[in-house]
Amino acid sequence: MHVAPAVSLRGDLAVPGDKSISHRALLLGAVADGESDFSGFGTSEDTLASAAAVQVLGADVDVDRERVRVGGVGLRGLRAPGEPIDCGNAGTLMRLLPGLLVGQEGRFELVGDDSLSRRPLDRIAEPLARMGAHVETTDGHAPLVVEGGELEPIRYDLPVASAQVKSCVLLAGLYASGGPTIVGEPISTRDHTERLLDAAGARVRRKPRAPAVWPATRLAPLRLEIPGDFSAAAPFILAATLLAGSKLRLHGVGINPTRTGFLVVLERMGARISVFHRRAAGAGGEPVADLEVEAAELVATEIRPEEVPGLVDELPLFALAAALARGESVVTGAQELRVKESDRIETVKDALRPLGIRIETAHDGFRVRGVPSRPKGGGVVDTAGDHRIAMLGAVAGLVSREGVALKDAESVAVSFPDFFAVLDSLALRS
Ligand code: S3P
Repeated sequence: MHVAPAVSLRGDLAVPGDKSISHRALLLGAVADGESDFSGFGTSEDTLASAAAVQVLGADVDVDRERVRVGGVGLRGLRAPGEPIDCGNAGTLMRLLPGLLVGQEGRFELVGDDSLSRRPLDRIAEPLARMGAHVETTDGHAPLVVEGGELEPIRYDLPVASAQVKSCVLLAGLYASGGPTIVGEPISTRDHTERLLDAAGARVRRKPRAPAVWPATRLAPLRLEIPGDFSAAAPFILAATLLAGSKLRLHGVGINPTRTGFLVVLERMGARISVFHRRAAGAGGEPVADLEVEAAELVATEIRPEEVPGLVDELPLFALAAALARGESVVTGAQELRVKESDRIETVKDALRPLGIRIETAHDGFRVRGVPSRPKGGGVVDTAGDHRIAMLGAVAGLVSREGVALKDAESVAVSFPDFFAVLDSLALRS
């Protein structure tokens, strides 16, 4: 696919429903008592993998574009299918679902695609085993086998700041007998699971960096309006910031403060982003707003380790922002980037090189000396089959002088199938 340069980005858009929340809604809906109903669901390859997974486990799922209904089977009602559960590319599914499976009867096997099969699973196997579950990885990776058992509540201090691991342990805590399961976080991570458990009537303590969940016998069905995905909005926010004359309005974007680190960082760099019409989206109370973005000149900044979880999926885009900002920017404490859908420290560097952008990498981040003018472009950007790198490549093409060719651009379907169509409808080309 070729992405031509654009003059500016103008117009209005709504991005798909939040992927993290959509996965969690399906998982909790599947073990609720009764029918859950979600509007604004983010339909994508990733979330459809979750829909298919809970379906083979016995829940009824009806996906009608952005409206999803789930007939829950009760907290302990999931049934072991006679086949492996295919998680596709979805790390969130592979890490969260075992938290529910440890409370079921039977043996469950989870498999994933090549990229997911390279990603670490010890991080969930270890705390689940500590609670008393039987969990087997294949050398720390998928395929993963889970069997339930008597579970004990634990206090688990996360060795890495990961919302997926936190969520897995909290979900397993629903099935423990006795007191609360507590997760200590070195740095706060996204709190969607805690909010949804609360909305489903579970006893939850939403204390920053030490959330806890108590054992439950039932969850109430959920009626949710899922907000737009900030991570899907981020490439548009960046493109509008970088292209002179842009004016873009994004409607109904989730602005949960555990997710909007990229907004904070861009504003620090000089971006012009107004946040208005702030509201809470239905049950779960996720904060939502409309955003208006106008072009701005950026200056370099430093991203410290404690900021990383708030923009972990936006760090590839930050690299491009930094490359076009005045001064030298640096990111540290982001070693988790190495175990995402690709090794995003290396794939970001490789993706931006054809544009003439040099990224100096470190084990836990990168450094970029910015040049505030359009990069040349003209080359081929390898997305490494990673949806976030494909979106980075697309924005890089728009802001370049000659455009870029994108290899494996279709990976955007993992989180945002209409990404290129939406981008095209907003880009003014001459
Ligand atoms: C996610 C958490 C993050 C993020 C991923 C989605 C979630 O991963 O990168 O895209 O839905 O909980 P980690 O928890 O591994 O940091």
